[in-house]
Amino acid sequence: MYDEKTLELIKIVEAKREYNTALEPRRMTAEEKEEVLKQYHPDHKRDTEFRTLTVGPNAGGLVPNELCDMLEANSRIYGQDIDLSNPDYDCDVLVIGAGGAGTSAAIEANEKGANVLIVTKLRMGDANTMMAEGGIQAADKENDSPAIHYVDAFGGGHFAAKPELVAKLVNKAPEAIKWLSDLGVEFDKTEDGTMVTTHGGGTSRKRMHAAKDYSGAEIMRTLRDEVLNRNIPVVDFTAAIEIIKDDKGHAAGAVLLNMETKEILIAKAKCVIIATGGAGRMHYQGFPTSNHYGATADGLVLAYRAGAKLRDVDTLQYHPTGAAFPEQILGALVTEKVRSLGAKLVNIDGEVFMNPLETRDVTASTVIRECAKGKGVPTGDGVGIWLDTPMIEIKGGEGTIEKRIPAMLRMFGKYGIDIRKQPILIYPTLHYQNGGVEVDTESQTCVENLYVAGEAEGGVHGRNRLMGNSLLDVIVFGRNAGQFAGDKCKSVEVGKLTLDHVDAFQKELADAGIKTDLVSPKLLPNYTKVEPKLDKSEIQ
Ligand code: FUM
Repeated sequence: MYDEKTLELIKIVEAKREYNTALEPRRMTAEEKEEVLKQYHPDHKRDTEFRTLTVGPNAGGLVPNELCDMLEANSRIYGQDIDLSNPDYDCDVLVIGAGGAGTSAAIEANEKGANVLIVTKLRMGDANTMMAEGGIQAADKENDSPAIHYVDAFGGGHFAAKPELVAKLVNKAPEAIKWLSDLGVEFDKTEDGTMVTTHGGGTSRKRMHAAKDYSGAEIMRTLRDEVLNRNIPVVDFTAAIEIIKDDKGHAAGAVLLNMETKEILIAKAKCVIIATGGAGRMHYQGFPTSNHYGATADGLVLAYRAGAKLRDVDTLQYHPTGAAFPEQILGALVTEKVRSLGAKLVNIDGEVFMNPLETRDVTASTVIRECAKGKGVPTGDGVGIWLDTPMIEIKGGEGTIEKRIPAMLRMFGKYGIDIRKQPILIYPTLHYQNGGVEVDTESQTCVENLYVAGEAEGGVHGRNRLMGNSLLDVIVFGRNAGQFAGDKCKSVEVGKLTLDHVDAFQKELADAGIKTDLVSPKLLPNYTKVEPKLDKSEIQ
């Protein structure tokens, strides 16, 4: 509930609402965008918030300080004698992670006849996919085409993505929607069965398919059912903490850690797919996050220590509209769909200061600039910008909010804020890892038989992702990894298992003079502010 002072400030927004609703804010020029990004986007704090990696395949490259700490930390099995001679699990395809990408990969590898095992450090569906709200892009309407989708996505990512990956993303998008729909996803449709599609930031056509504002939960529900229906085994509360290789240097399994008992387990596999998701819980630069509890960049650490290259990991996505009030939901996602449906961003003086559907990096930077100029609204502990949600019903008619974004209505309603009548306060929140582990069009890394899919992979989005291309990514590239690994495993002969690469990495750290008692992968955030230290009792 807003206090008296804030209610007074809302009166300023209300006084200008009719005028602001009718306003068509102009788009920024390329020069204006470049300038605001350079000055206000957190990625540009190169001198203080980023460090150069000293060891590993990306030595010499710049990464966020917090990620650098993890990439140059000790292995969780450092100093342990791990017995690889009698694996606890033996499968064709090991999938690490059970969100949208992991489950899609497992389904497709299973479809190829592979014996698949999923391991996940939490439970199936505890993933960013589950939390995705606004929708999934696909150019499947008459006025649209994958080529137009390509231009939007490649341009929105500042032309830094791998063209062949973007091409795969957009070309496979219509098929991804059909696959999901056939599996049972209830996309929003008009009475005649046509899918409802809307705009997202930076899209030149309405191609966002959604299930109200809980699109990810609906997709995850369906994928989870499909994994269960196929009897694909899932080992939950079990994290992968190192990739195992064979004596040919190929990926051949993973060392697992039971999160409850701390027991070490060994999984042997002909192919390994990392689908561990993102990194919001790294809280880069102290930002709050819209991500689920397990988003701690584990896949980057696993792949890096196994010798895989990373790309674009110096660029993160700050979603422009994280909740800035009340404190209980600080950083929670306020879907871009709120702006697609007509809500505009308004400063403390009641002024609309930008077009609300610029690309995310530009919108987030402009919100930060507005607050830096003193035009933000005090939230108690911090500052925010108004997102004037009542405009949605002026534009779309009474009932639009309840029908199209019921989860938003409920989330704020719990705190006494009726978004149909009152604006909400937002500020950018850490939302997405734009880069990740470098893969080819078969989703394979430079380490033979090691695949990466979904948010952990890099190269699909360049330096900024558009709304709805993440759900699309997890489906298209999750399926892609599953299909290629499902085929590849048929011809793989696994050699002698080894963890020599882990020892070699430790030696590289020592040779570089890096002394740290941090361990990685991080696995879970630590809100006690004490970083996990190398402690043998933790891993025995
Ligand atoms: O705003 C949103 O609903 C987020 C979507 C996405 O990140 O793709």
